[in-house]
Amino acid sequence: MAESKLNVLMCGTGEYTTGWVGSGASTSDKKVGVVGLTCFDLRRLGKIGELAMVGVNGKKYPQIRTHLQEKIADVYKDLDVSFKSYPDDNTVDAEAYKQAIDDRKAGDAVIIFTPDSTHYPIALYAIEKGLHVLVTKPATQLLEHHQHLIDAARAKGVVCFVEHHKRFDPVYSDARARARTLGEFNFYNSWMSQPKLQLETFKAWAGKDSDIRSARHYYLDCGLELTKRSTSYYLNSHHIDIHTWIMEGRGVPTRVVASAAKGIATSDEFGCVPETEDTITLLVDWESVDSDKHRGTAVYTSSWTAPLKAGIHTAQHWYYMGAKGEIAVDQAHRGYDVVYDDTGKASFNPFYMKYSPSETGHFDGQRGYGYVSIEKFIDAARDVNAGKIKASDFDKHGLPTIANTVLTTAILNAGRISLDQKRPVLIKKNGDKYSLE
Ligand SMILES: NC(=O)c1ccc[n+]([C@@H]2O[C@H](COP(=O)([O-])OP(=O)(O)OC[C@H]3O[C@@H](n4cnc5c(N)ncnc54)[C@H](O)[C@@H]3O)[C@@H](O)[C@H]2O)c1
Repeated sequence: MAESKLNVLMCGTGEYTTGWVGSGASTSDKKVGVVGLTCFDLRRLGKIGELAMVGVNGKKYPQIRTHLQEKIADVYKDLDVSFKSYPDDNTVDAEAYKQAIDDRKAGDAVIIFTPDSTHYPIALYAIEKGLHVLVTKPATQLLEHHQHLIDAARAKGVVCFVEHHKRFDPVYSDARARARTLGEFNFYNSWMSQPKLQLETFKAWAGKDSDIRSARHYYLDCGLELTKRSTSYYLNSHHIDIHTWIMEGRGVPTRVVASAAKGIATSDEFGCVPETEDTITLLVDWESVDSDKHRGTAVYTSSWTAPLKAGIHTAQHWYYMGAKGEIAVDQAHRGYDVVYDDTGKASFNPFYMKYSPSETGHFDGQRGYGYVSIEKFIDAARDVNAGKIKASDFDKHGLPTIANTVLTTAILNAGRISLDQKRPVLIKKNGDKYSLE
């Protein structure tokens, strides 16, 4: 059977989906978002059929539509930015996703970019209705929720991928293949940080109203759950996934100890609630599957209080040492620097999302790994709908399926427990399930 067009519901209407963050266009590197633009382009190219969006606050839609018209439809040729929206423009409803999913049919797809704590209930609701799911990282906050999604997706035969787009970065995927030729794992160290930009946004609003509590509620209304969405779940998730992907079938994490630096986000300058951590480090023991003589150590650090004006939005680098060699990757600095008179030097990454149009005036970012990551999911869901492949077959392809990403959630969840309870946490395997002790 030939593939038919896939109908897609985008869940979450924030920075990653539309580039609109409530107060205006995002000031990050995603001013026009990633999911919406990619889906509009895949509809233009005939892979996607109907498009819908669901958020919490329908009153934002008029501004979102204007933003998409100005930043996408007026910039790229032939790009239709229309979509059906839930809830309606006068309604605020945190459960609107249920109606939006109920209105779809089995075999349609949902792409979830909502606050971390909502991923599990929304993904489960969609899977149980027979919809294919692409959920952003961290897939879930709890290991048991992740394992439940694996079981639910298997029972329904639907595709469930986690949107770990760094796996499609040509340097990362090449480095992963090379790392697997270097013998037993010995040491891995990753760093990922973003500037105090999010905290700056918060400060700007809080300063105007000079009421931190209501500023916090405003922040929550925008979907920016700052404390629950700790920097480890938010940023460490990326490079933990790359490391567990390198280790697939070769080693398992067994023990996690976490440490957190604090004091910048909670300072008077930023006024975040007392639980907010700035920089989180996870120290993880790994055991080889093949050798009882080899053990490895990984150190994953992430921060959202990095200095401003470093010329990059996201600092990201890692180092891997195996028994027969080492690999070092710096993905923030790709040898492409631009200097502006007013803001100084900046390093850009068009390999992720290329926003400059093609020679014909069309969107030209189809080879960016932010785009490819979503297209791989769309292709997978269409292939399953056409009966060409079973959803569970993707587990064997090294793709970020919900089953292949379980250890990333195990490490993140163990890290959270270690921070909260100030103790090491063990990761145990019982049959095909993992547990934390
Ligand atoms: N922004 C990025 O650069 C980026 C990159 C990769 C992954 N992510 C992940 O995306 C998720 C958040 O997306 P964002 O950055 O666009 O955040 P955001 O705060 O800008 O937007 C979140 C959106 O989720 C919506 N939402 C909240 N609860 C909902 C519910 N119950 N039903 C439907 N919609 C709901 C909000 O209305 C809002 O539109 C996080 O898990 C984050 O880790 C973000």
